[in-house]
Amino acid sequence: MNILLTGGAGYIGSHTAVVLAQAGHHVVLLDNLCNSQASVVTRIGRITGQAHPLEVCDVRETARVQHILRQYNIQAVVHFAGLKAVGESVQQPLAYFNANVSGAISLLEAMQAEGVRKLVFSSSATVYGQPQYLPLDEDHPTGAINPYGRTKLHIEEMLQDLAASDATWRIAILRYFNPVGAHESGLIGEDPSGTPNNLMPYIARVAAGKLPYLNVWGDDYATPDGTGVRDYIHVMDLAEGHRAALDYLNHSTLPCEVFNLGTGKGYSVLDMIQAFELATGKRIPFQVGPRRSGDVAACYADNQKAAMKLAWHAQHQLGQMCQSTWQFESGYL
Ligand code: NAD
Ligand code: WQD
Repeated sequence: MNILLTGGAGYIGSHTAVVLAQAGHHVVLLDNLCNSQASVVTRIGRITGQAHPLEVCDVRETARVQHILRQYNIQAVVHFAGLKAVGESVQQPLAYFNANVSGAISLLEAMQAEGVRKLVFSSSATVYGQPQYLPLDEDHPTGAINPYGRTKLHIEEMLQDLAASDATWRIAILRYFNPVGAHESGLIGEDPSGTPNNLMPYIARVAAGKLPYLNVWGDDYATPDGTGVRDYIHVMDLAEGHRAALDYLNHSTLPCEVFNLGTGKGYSVLDMIQAFELATGKRIPFQVGPRRSGDVAACYADNQKAAMKLAWHAQHQLGQMCQSTWQFESGYL
């Protein structure tokens, strides 16, 4: 298929581009480069041995997006483009609603106008809010607790309404848990600008000596060691989940479905420090601080639906997540 990846130069988009190209699809990347660099596309090409077009474009430029869909005869879209920093979304909610919700509306209008009806959408486990039970299945009530999460929920609701209005749509909403790791080549990975908010990139920068120690946000949660528990998933497994979802949309009879993409296993912050030290031989000094506002104690997936319907299973272990993170980070030293 000819597949457009919005936000394709970003962290998850670049890994998905590799997997889709290696599965024989033609990928076209669309990105405004607000949180990525054009050089990533050359690196993707070095891995796949092919050249992939990059259209530097904002997804809110509806007419241009429409033109790109036509120009490349696009049959399916994976929509990664958007803003994703929870703290920033609290400070700048309008920027988040504009980029994420208006961005999705613009893309959907362009797709509708061009008759493109297959879409995979990047959602997040953050839409579950405070877990009422674990593991989280797709029927768990939703209720986002920050503006970023609310943008994802609004888009999900919009997609459900769109699918209800026109049964020719084939939409897969993928709720990612905590993506980490990098491609085994070390050529692409997660490279946040400034001080990382997320645990794994922060640990990697401590290991590289760029930050002195890790702040562990709270050790008094109702978890086995008191620190927060999350479902960390290797970004290549996540990328594979998109390939499986796109294949599924080709024969699915339902216009819109939701899938969790997680491993189903929870690891604490202390587990992560230990796993990283073991996998890389690096020491990660840390200090325990207060809880971070908005954090939940534990969050991990029930991934049975993706296993059954998409025939998708996460393959990578925690050690590989840590090793590949370090390989990418240390390449930047
Ligand atoms: P990322 O920031 O690395 O990638 C997003 C890409 O979209 C960037 O390259 C950015 O330049 C581009 N972009 C942003 N706004 C745009 C716009 N208006 N027009 C065109 N391009 C635009 O983020 P990521 O981690 O790869 O996340 C991809 C998607 O997955 C996002 O929608 C994010 O909300 C979602 N998600 C991410 C995580 C995570 O922890 N990384 C978890 C759950 C869901
Ligand atoms: C993981 C654990 C922290 C940093 C976020 C978004 C979510 C999704 C994924 C996009 C928690 C602890 C972290 C640090 C720490 N993104 N921690 N010290 O919060 O589960 O999810 O990213 O959709 O929406 O909220 O991920 O990596 O920030 O935190 O102790 O410096 O690590 O308290 O327990 P989180 P995270």
